[in-house]
Amino acid sequence: MIMVLKMLTAASCFVKAMLQPSPLCHSWEILFGRETSPRSFSFKHGIPPSAKYGGRHTVTMIPGDGIGPELMLHVKTVFRHACVPVDFEEVIVNSTSGEEDVHNAIMAVRRNCVALKGNIETDHNLPPSHKSRNNMFRTTLDLYANVIHFKSLPGVETRHKDVDILVVRENTEGEYSNLEHESVKGVIESLKIITKARSLRIAEYAFQLAQEMGRKRVTVVHKANIMQLGDGLFLQCCREVASRYPQLTFEGMIVDNTTMQLVSQPQQFDVMVMPNLYGNIVNNICTGLVGGAGLVPGANYGHTYAVFETASRQSGKNLANKNMANPTAMLLASCILLDYLKLHSYATSIRNAVLASMENKDVHTPDIGGQGTTSDIIQNITNHISTVN
Ligand SMILES: *[C@@H]1O[C@H](CO)[C@@H](O)[C@H](O)[C@H]1NC(C)=O
Ligand SMILES: *[C@@H]1O[C@H](CO)[C@@H](O)[C@H](O)[C@H]1NC(C)=O
Ligand SMILES: *[C@@H]1O[C@H](CO)[C@@H](O)[C@H](O)[C@H]1NC(C)=O
Repeated sequence: MIMVLKMLTAASCFVKAMLQPSPLCHSWEILFGRETSPRSFSFKHGIPPSAKYGGRHTVTMIPGDGIGPELMLHVKTVFRHACVPVDFEEVIVNSTSGEEDVHNAIMAVRRNCVALKGNIETDHNLPPSHKSRNNMFRTTLDLYANVIHFKSLPGVETRHKDVDILVVRENTEGEYSNLEHESVKGVIESLKIITKARSLRIAEYAFQLAQEMGRKRVTVVHKANIMQLGDGLFLQCCREVASRYPQLTFEGMIVDNTTMQLVSQPQQFDVMVMPNLYGNIVNNICTGLVGGAGLVPGANYGHTYAVFETASRQSGKNLANKNMANPTAMLLASCILLDYLKLHSYATSIRNAVLASMENKDVHTPDIGGQGTTSDIIQNITNHISTVN
């Protein structure tokens, strides 16, 4: 009986997806919670699941490895404090889990349509048949767009000021095809797959996002001078989509030049779109530019499902259980999740409390030069929520 109910709810997500407008006419929603707030944005893709059981939402929670489990406890504490009408369905998947656990977790995301996820450690010393669990989530759920907003935060000292970049990364193909083989002894072939359909899909996503967010320029990152066919196709698809957005400036930039430009003059970038591996590299550079892995939230969207996580896909194993991890990135990810569920006032309240704690150097964690503990910050944030309410 439970199984049948689960299947019905999974089916209802699916029906919703089918009823959605085509990817070309998605409605974006942009919100400005507090005018001065640098993170007060959210954009969504598709139609989020509606609330059930007395206005409450159920969200799948996958703590993952490293600092993931403790960050999830903090999210729960803060949600409880802010009386957020969200129940978490927790699913344990970690570096030691088998494929069946991963499939159960994927089923849980299918059921609830929305998840908050920590990173799952991938041991690259295991045999190559052991695939990255994180990648399995993204491909199986077809979470094709990874979207991260990099914006300088007040109170955090960085070399560059006024960074404000939206990075859209293709999340399902390219170098992450998992297709590798040894064709002749000593010769490995690692396949990078670029398809027209998925390139057009991510380009459309990026240009639509740029338009809805009132942005001016879209930079396509590629290496078409060397990978003329693969990256050439990606670039050509972006150019094709760009022709339908004449009000946006379109620019192509070779990936090596991009990395140099990012570290020397990041303010020149507005919206960026790129294939999978370049996205991984560019996201990490941008994370460093705005203060590090502890600060930046990330989102993965498909037509039906949305998974929120930290921008940096590291598990933070060395920081685990030391009360030192910076909870900011995961808390801000949970705020994007709340906006996605249209629980805007809760998102704004938590986001404002997180930002208020950031402005206070006494409670900064060591990763951004402070001496505060994770629980100091959480205490500060929950105090702030109580004071405001
Ligand atoms: C992984 O999860 C299992 C529960 O499914 C738990 O017993 C184990 O301790 C976890 N391992 C790590 C490394 O966290
Ligand atoms: C690198 O990017 C800069 C800034 O857009 C541009 O002016 C320059 O021509 C580019 N250099 C190369 C070698 O593409
Ligand atoms: C946050 O911590 C700082 C430094 O300890 C303190 O001055 C401030 O009052 C705290 N704010 C709240 C709302 O607890």
